[in-house]
Amino acid sequence: MANFEYAQAEGMGRPLKFEGRPVWAEISLGAIQHNFRLIRRHIGRGRKILSVVKGNAYGHGAVPVSKALAKAGTDWFGVTCTAEGIELREAGLRQPILLLTGFWPGEEARILQYRLTPVVTAIEQLRYLEGAARRARRRLDFHLKVDTGMSRLGIAPADAGRLVSVLADCPHLRLAGTMTHFASSEVFTHAQTEDQLRVFREFLQRLHAVRVNPGLVHMANSAAIASRPDTWADMVRPGALLYGYHQRYDPPERLAEVSETLPLKPALSLRARIVLLRDLPAGVGIGYNARFVTQRPSRIAVIPAGYADGLVRRLSNTGRVIVRGRCVPIVGIVSMDLTTIDVTDVPEVSVGDVVTILGRDGELSRSPFDVAAEIGTVTSDLLCSLGSRVPRFYLR
Ligand SMILES: Cc1ncc(COP(=O)(O)O)c(C=O)c1O
Repeated sequence: MANFEYAQAEGMGRPLKFEGRPVWAEISLGAIQHNFRLIRRHIGRGRKILSVVKGNAYGHGAVPVSKALAKAGTDWFGVTCTAEGIELREAGLRQPILLLTGFWPGEEARILQYRLTPVVTAIEQLRYLEGAARRARRRLDFHLKVDTGMSRLGIAPADAGRLVSVLADCPHLRLAGTMTHFASSEVFTHAQTEDQLRVFREFLQRLHAVRVNPGLVHMANSAAIASRPDTWADMVRPGALLYGYHQRYDPPERLAEVSETLPLKPALSLRARIVLLRDLPAGVGIGYNARFVTQRPSRIAVIPAGYADGLVRRLSNTGRVIVRGRCVPIVGIVSMDLTTIDVTDVPEVSVGDVVTILGRDGELSRSPFDVAAEIGTVTSDLLCSLGSRVPRFYLR
């Protein structure tokens, strides 16, 4: 069969033509914009939204997703690092861009050149930024990260006094925002979020007491946006929500409540076409280490997607995919480029059929949310596994 014949995707009813390996992702920019607008309505017009597009927009593609979010009215973008920020600037995006995990010494000139906003996570970093801003004869805005209990990045609340005195020596810098990050905002069964909130408020009071303006105050990630209005402050930072997913809550009943309040649309589907069918007798080992042995005469289909594409290896012998309106099991070990599925119970199956690895196909769905839970990870981990070689088709 000619390559292009089985390389036609059916993205939401429209044929998408491309040549090459028949594995592709369909990404609905309309769904992402819908999710953004739901968040906007939920938090009210008085607050800003920083769209988290780090990690290649959770695998969805940083530039097209950011352009769609800019059209929907995002106020800020949040990326991991300078390189991700530069990618957005070079693509023509003009909104402020926050470097969520800060910067590394040596990057200061580029931060100024590309008008990026660094997060300062340790007081010593102020000296690097001040030196670069002074040399450039520019004023540089930064946001400050406070560690309120995550015990990862951020200055200790007890260091507020030292921060204020170092800042007084940095005339080229302006504290334009103060943030913290929650460790467990989806868990309602213990007090960690309330503790973090209290520590953060005390820190802000200390700044106010010495007349230091904290700038934009922000802390809420997806779970906090969905269900903890007392954390919304001046700006919220949605990631997973934008791509169409809630968190797994504790207690789990919360999920039904937040799903009703924020009826999200998942943006991603990952699909491939069957490239080969094999009829095998009982007792034949399949794939690496023969981890699956046919128990009956079986029809096995090969799909050109493996763990380098985002069909993660932990789905070996446990995952399922959708083909011709049925859920069928993945059999054997998922390899880097290929996966085998058991289609014995799909009599009409043929080479070229579309297989849905993630996403919806008619009535059936393999939601990244559910698949992630089945293999003991979080949705964002699964989304970020989408391989860079997988062509992404953007649907509006
Ligand atoms: C600082 C910060 N804010 C917000 C987010 C968005 O988190 P979520 O995807 O849970 O909304 C992240 C993601 O890890 C983050 O690191």
